[in-house]
Amino acid sequence: MRLNDCHNIEDFRRLAKARLPWPVFDYIDGAADDEITKTRNTQAFKTADLVPDVLAGVSEIDTSCRIMGRKSALPLVLSPTALQRVFHWEGEKAVARAAEKFGLWFGISSLATHSIEVIAALTSGPKLFQLYVHKDQGLNTSMIERCKASGFDALALTVDTIVSGKRERCMRSGFTTPPRFTPSAVWSYATRPRWTLDYLFREKFSLPNLDTHVAEGSSKSVSIAEYFNTMLDTAMDWDTAAAIRSDWGGTFALKGIMSATDARRAVDIGADAIWISNHGGRQLDGGRSPFDQLAEIEDAVGGEIEIICDGGVRRGTHVLKALCAGADATSGGRLYLYALAAAGQAGVERALGILKDEIERGMRLMGVTSVDQLTPNRLRWRN
Ligand code: FNR
Ligand code: LAC
Repeated sequence: MRLNDCHNIEDFRRLAKARLPWPVFDYIDGAADDEITKTRNTQAFKTADLVPDVLAGVSEIDTSCRIMGRKSALPLVLSPTALQRVFHWEGEKAVARAAEKFGLWFGISSLATHSIEVIAALTSGPKLFQLYVHKDQGLNTSMIERCKASGFDALALTVDTIVSGKRERCMRSGFTTPPRFTPSAVWSYATRPRWTLDYLFREKFSLPNLDTHVAEGSSKSVSIAEYFNTMLDTAMDWDTAAAIRSDWGGTFALKGIMSATDARRAVDIGADAIWISNHGGRQLDGGRSPFDQLAEIEDAVGGEIEIICDGGVRRGTHVLKALCAGADATSGGRLYLYALAAAGQAGVERALGILKDEIERGMRLMGVTSVDQLTPNRLRWRN
């Protein structure tokens, strides 16, 4: 299987699986406990059906929208994800360049493998920084100051990782950051020489937004669970979020809101956007899917704050359904991560091209010429 054989996100997943050592693939693909929520995130889109209008004159269509104050060519954001250098040696640089080409927002994680400054210098496209609140206050302040100085467009505070989810695939594989070559996985590294040589001989892995303050994760190998449970601040609460909002002062989002009550609190602290998200099913298993929660949250705070539906998106029609159900935009991680792992920047560009094409085709077949025409009356729930 080659890149040109990939025609949908599941194809990229298969190619990534063939090209990555299994501990790395399982870190991307895996989720918490029984992975029920991860599966549900995508399955949920099957519980609603689109109702098209025809003969609507769709030769010219406009897929663009505004997200957090900047234009986006599609109602789709590339969610911030950690450790991209491990998936492909180009890491976040590949994703940033592909996002810029397609006119899309992307985010880098606190656990990004390129620095805030390097990424900011690479692209003038819309970009956000995802903040994890560490026990080390100095580290939090330093990341916020560096984002201000570099001109990041938004800060997204992730609020669904107060402790780590139970990621059993990672427990079995012993996946750590930086990766260690554990005996049980040696065969897998040996049979993926391209990945292994790139990992060993290209730019050295590091977490440059953290390593000024902590060795964990960058030079000292730890599991993601250990990282969350020892480094992050379990006491974080709404006052912490409000304080960060005011320290940052710019466009601010909360990532990982699932209840209508919390959506209301996000409005109260003056957030500009909420990401309805369960972290791709990697945290609380058995939690509801973002798509299922959309209507309730839209009823509570629609029009007062931007609503981004994050997780499970694998198709253009998933994006259309989320917009009909009340989202202002959608976002996703694995939809570009499998492609990054499979083929670097060329892979991400191919995946984004496929999604763009699916969104355009879907809009034409729905008889809509702009994304604001994707309204609730074009969607029916099955039950
Ligand atoms: C993530 N996600 C994530 N979120 C975040 O706020 N900070 C992070 O560092 C990461 N890291 C990360 C790594 C990997 C490998 C994955 C798959 C996900 C969650 C991410 O931003 C997003 O919420 C989910 O990926 C959405 O689900 P889908 O689109 O992957 O189904
Ligand atoms: C994850 C992180 C780092 O989900 O947020 O693995």
